[in-house]
Amino acid sequence: MRRIVLQTGAAVKGKADATRVILTSYMSGDTQKTFYLETFGCQMNVHDSEKVIGTLVQQGYRQVETVEQADLILYNTCSIRDKAEQKVFHRLADFKKLQAQGKRFGVLGCVAQQEGDKVFERAPHVSLVCGSASYRNLPEMLVQIEAGKRATGLDDRQTDECFETEFTARTNPYRGYITIIEGCDKFCAYCVVPFTRGKERSRTSESVLAEARQLVDLGYSEIQLLGQNVNSYKDPAGKKSFAELLAAVGEVPGMRRVRFTTSHPRDFGRDIVEAIDATPTLCDHVHLPVQSGSNHVLDAMQRLYTREQYLERIGWMKAATREISITTDVIVGFPGETEADFEQTLNLLEEVGYDGVFTFKYSPRPNTPALELEDAISDQEKARRLEVLMSRQREIQINQNKKHIGKTSEVMVEGHNQARGQWIGRTSQNKTLNFTAPDDATPKVGTYADVTILSTFPNSLLGQMVI
Ligand code: 5AD
Ligand code: SF4
Repeated sequence: MRRIVLQTGAAVKGKADATRVILTSYMSGDTQKTFYLETFGCQMNVHDSEKVIGTLVQQGYRQVETVEQADLILYNTCSIRDKAEQKVFHRLADFKKLQAQGKRFGVLGCVAQQEGDKVFERAPHVSLVCGSASYRNLPEMLVQIEAGKRATGLDDRQTDECFETEFTARTNPYRGYITIIEGCDKFCAYCVVPFTRGKERSRTSESVLAEARQLVDLGYSEIQLLGQNVNSYKDPAGKKSFAELLAAVGEVPGMRRVRFTTSHPRDFGRDIVEAIDATPTLCDHVHLPVQSGSNHVLDAMQRLYTREQYLERIGWMKAATREISITTDVIVGFPGETEADFEQTLNLLEEVGYDGVFTFKYSPRPNTPALELEDAISDQEKARRLEVLMSRQREIQINQNKKHIGKTSEVMVEGHNQARGQWIGRTSQNKTLNFTAPDDATPKVGTYADVTILSTFPNSLLGQMVI
């Protein structure tokens, strides 16, 4: 007989002492099976992995830290760009020889969904291929691979259901992720996500709120609501809009911080800014991917908004009472992007004054409409544009961050840098604020502190804790 108990530190030690997920297993008889799981890609994948770990533990598996210790080796994969996709096949090749020891390999996530049975051809030692929309079937698939068979979970992309499980092994002890919407119906011309994660489906606001309350009870004070496009959230019960859900999560007693990602400009409503203004627990940070500053490129990307409409949304945020930090994603070298188009992206960066920009070289992806377009811009030219963009943005961030000197911000303490004698904090605006503390004060990781900002860098701030 085997009994597995999955507890969180908070449940055991009391709220203030929320630590890591503690896994206690009571064994008798058989030897426990072990698994190793490596996750690539976005926060959605990180959170999916938390649910997969919970499911495996529930099935009697124990998580281990190295491939060598594991019976089952799993990769939760990302295929957003070619490089991300290649990583998993390199990993599988590196460890192929371990198959002789009876170890089994599984590919989960976007590469699994995209490549399907072709994964078995490229890496014959793999026995499990499972896309994110099929995780609910993992228990049966585990039984199959344990019996020496191959198992695939690939056909649920048209599902209307989100993957919900009570067995979530949360790996971040302070920030709890909650999925509110899965999939994407936007079909931007370059993006593989609608093909790997399937169609949009939202959870009811009631179940999201129940999970938020549960997390607060477990000691979490920061929640991040997740979705490929959170702004197109549609409560299946018709009770709450996305902005109303945000406010309701922010009002859960005991909640300190609520973040959300990712937004799509087309669906980004003014009511979201109003909710941030009215609800202090909603973090004053919005990640609003623009992709390009040129209408010609936005049109070719099928982004469904113009530069002017995007800037209108930025205007709403700048008019807010609270100072909202704004970050974005930009793709350089999309097919047909001229030097003049690129210049428009550069001047958009100046016009918005972003607090952070994630930049990517366009990477052609299977199934996507942009694959039909000629990818005529050389890799060298894409790299040059990336370089120019990053250095321009660096200057903008230096100026943006300087504005904070002399102000006091609340941070969540995230860690300690012993070598530097500094604590690592994160502001509500999602900026890293490193700080020193008086000798008699020992900030505790996972708690909050007020810090006065003394100096700034392009990617972080430095300050001193206020007692
Ligand atoms: N090539 C380059 N970047 C891409 N992204 C998505 N698809 C591609 C692609 N094919 C970027 C977008 C998106 C971010 C998550 O990844 O900027 O917002
Ligand atoms: Fe991809 Fe566009 Fe959907 Fe974002 S909104 S996941 S970029 S298709």
